Amino acid sequence: MKTPPHDLIVFGATSFVGQILTRYLAEQFGAHGRFRWAIAGRSEAKLAALRNSLGLAAGKLPQVVADAADEAALRRMCRDTRVVISTVGPYALYGEPLVKVCAETGTDYCDLTGEVQWIRRMIHAHEPAARKSGARIVHCCGFDSIPSDLGVYFLQQRARERFGRPCTEVKMRVKAVRGGFSGGTAASMVNVMKEAAANPALRKEIADPYSICPAGYAPAVRQPNVTSAGYDADFGAWVAPFVMSAINTRIVQRSNALSKQSYGKDFRYDEAMLMGRGLKGRTAAMGLAAGLLGFMLAGALPPTRWALERFVLPAPGEGPSAEDQRKGFYDLRFLGRTSDGRTLRVKVTGDRDPGYGSTAKMLGQAGACLALDLAESGRPGGFWTPATMFGDQLIERLVAHSGLTFEVLED
Ligand SMILES: NC(=O)c1ccc[n+]([C@@H]2O[C@H](COP(=O)([O-])OP(=O)(O)OC[C@H]3O[C@@H](n4cnc5c(N)ncnc54)[C@H](OP(=O)(O)O)[C@@H]3O)[C@@H](O)[C@H]2O)c1
Repeated sequence: MKTPPHDLIVFGATSFVGQILTRYLAEQFGAHGRFRWAIAGRSEAKLAALRNSLGLAAGKLPQVVADAADEAALRRMCRDTRVVISTVGPYALYGEPLVKVCAETGTDYCDLTGEVQWIRRMIHAHEPAARKSGARIVHCCGFDSIPSDLGVYFLQQRARERFGRPCTEVKMRVKAVRGGFSGGTAASMVNVMKEAAANPALRKEIADPYSICPAGYAPAVRQPNVTSAGYDADFGAWVAPFVMSAINTRIVQRSNALSKQSYGKDFRYDEAMLMGRGLKGRTAAMGLAAGLLGFMLAGALPPTRWALERFVLPAPGEGPSAEDQRKGFYDLRFLGRTSDGRTLRVKVTGDRDPGYGSTAKMLGQAGACLALDLAESGRPGGFWTPATMFGDQLIERLVAHSGLTFEVLED
């Protein structure tokens, strides 16, 4: 078989997060070194401006022009690469043609979607083609859901070493986080709220903790879900709902399902934000829970949704400043408990703001992992999760090159 000219193409290189990713890849791999990568997007002029901003002359960083709706152009792009990273979102609006073409042409793919309803649609529509062609498709390779998915994977590895068995219950708590969000993320959130408001069946599907697990997978265990303020005795603090749990918990459950229930058939998982102790913690938890509910209600109703989009949320292409990205960080705590009551605590941290500085580094390393570490791995085509596709290989890359830490906390 002929070797394509590129190892990896970044589709959507001119997006807010794509620009950060492109800079990161240039720093990590150079522009025309042994790792052959290229940038792609719908606008030749914007791609050239991005390349110029990196101080690279024409020809030093190849450019591919393709519109997300132009299947023929996407097919040409896929013919020229082994891996595509996509940051073109909202994925539910623009993402399907590329997933379809990757699945049909055997091109490996990873992205940043957190749109669970879209992921479900893609698995149903394109998994047979991906299995046949050998394309490995990995959604959710950013802050949602790499730290959660790999955090649970890491905890379960250590639990098996220590206790000889996995933890049947794991809680993830966000201890601290600093970061903003971009127009692209805002547009994706608003689009999910819009679709869900108009479709009761979709609301039911979104509420199903196993909604993206393989068909027929339905363990008889009720999943915990933090939907309001409450006290968590395991952490000695008040907790509030965590907005990303809606996607992260689904990915973690899919990882368990794809790994033949390696976390247990009764595995339970939830996520929440730690808000502190005493009256101060309680007030903060209640305030955050109420604010989140207000945001969801505002997003569900057309007039308030319009006001949110118009006056509150950032526009596409906008996002946190370079200074805010640099000052951002996150600190996630995991508590695992085995069926016989033994516990294990794990901490996962990242530098830079979670949604952009850190997300770009995670996505870049996920793409590099597909192109460099897993090319000959023999892993078959299909829709994977970060933990089941990358596991230890990505943890090593993230710790070495992306500012993440994974550690066991001793009591
Ligand atoms: N999982 C996570 O942690 C995480 C974090 C950050 C972002 N995200 C997601 O990543 C996505 C990108 O976010 P962002 O803030 O970077 O978005 P953004 O700045 O609004 O960028 C959207 C990109 O889509 C491109 N695009 C739109 N229509 C297109 C078409 N028809 N053909 C080709 N390209 C098209 C735009 O091209 P132009 O540049 O030419 O306008 C732009 O590059 C969003 O879906 C967001 O939800 C996820």
